[in-house]
Amino acid sequence: MPTILITGANKGLGLGFAARFAQDGWRVLASCRDPASAGAFSALADASGGRVRIDRLDVTDHDSIDRYATSLSGESVDILFNNAGIQGPQPQNFGTTDYESWANVMRTNVFGVMKMSEAFIEHVARSDRKLVVNVSSGTSSIANKIDATPPGSAKGELYLYRSSKTALNMVSRCMAWELKPRGVAVVMLGPGWVRTALGSDQAKFSVDESVANCTPMIQSWTLADAGKFYLYDGTEVPW
Ligand SMILES: NC(=O)c1ccc[n+]([C@@H]2O[C@H](COP(=O)([O-])OP(=O)(O)OC[C@H]3O[C@@H](n4cnc5c(N)ncnc54)[C@H](OP(=O)(O)O)[C@@H]3O)[C@@H](O)[C@H]2O)c1
Repeated sequence: MPTILITGANKGLGLGFAARFAQDGWRVLASCRDPASAGAFSALADASGGRVRIDRLDVTDHDSIDRYATSLSGESVDILFNNAGIQGPQPQNFGTTDYESWANVMRTNVFGVMKMSEAFIEHVARSDRKLVVNVSSGTSSIANKIDATPPGSAKGELYLYRSSKTALNMVSRCMAWELKPRGVAVVMLGPGWVRTALGSDQAKFSVDESVANCTPMIQSWTLADAGKFYLYDGTEVPW
C-alpha cells in the first residue's frame, strides 16, 4: 500500500488531499499543528485501523520534524506532500512591511519545506514512487507579475507570500537536480485559486474541484517531471 505524508492536513487543500488519498486506498500520514482541529477527518482516521493517521507537526519546529522522521524510521513515504503554508498579515504593500511576519512566512513556506524534505529523504528514496510535491502558487511567477494591484485591494501586492513561493520554486528546482540521481522527483504544484481560509471565499475553485483536478496529474508524475512547476490543468507556469 503506497504512503503519502501531508503537512497542514487539518483543513483546506491539505485536508482535501488527505481525504482523497485515503479514499483511494493509500496509507495517509496526515500531519498538522493541532490534531484536534482535524474535525470529521479524525473519525475517518479512527475507523481506518491505523491506515490513516493524524500526527502533530509544526513545520517551523525542526526538532519535532526530526523526531517525527525518526519515529517513522525504516518506513517508506511514496509522496511527501509539502502543503502547509501561510500568507501573512494583509494588505502587504510598500511602506507597511511587517518584517517579523515576513520571516515567519519564509520559515513556514520555504524553510519548512526544505527541512521536511531533508528529514524525510531516506523515507522517500526507499519508496516505490519517490515523489516530493511542493505546493507553490501561481502568484510566485515573476514573468506573470506585470500590473500593480489596484489601490485598496484587501491583499495588496502580497510581497511576503509571493516572495516566499518564488524562493520555494528555486529551492525546489535545486532540490530536484540534487535528488534526481537518487531517483527522487521533486515537482511543484499550483493548485489554482481555491476557496480556503488562505484563498478566500471569492476564489474560483472548491477544494474538491482542485483536488479532483490535481490528483490524477500528481499520480502520473515521474522522474521526467522533476524540477517542473505545473498548474492544476497541467500547464507549466513561467518562472
Ligand atoms: N487556496 C489557494 O487559492 C491557494 C493557491 C495557491 C497555493 N496555495 C497553497 O496551498 C497550500 C494550502 O493552503 P490552503 O489554501 O489549503 O490554506 P489553509 O486552508 O489556510 O491551510 C493552510 C494549512 O497550512 C497549515 N500550516 C500553517 N502553518 C503551519 C505550520 N507552521 N506547521 C504546520 N502546518 C501549518 C495550516 O494549519 P493551521 O490550521 O494550524 O493554521 C493549514 O492546515 C499552501 O501552501 C498555499 O500557499 C493555496
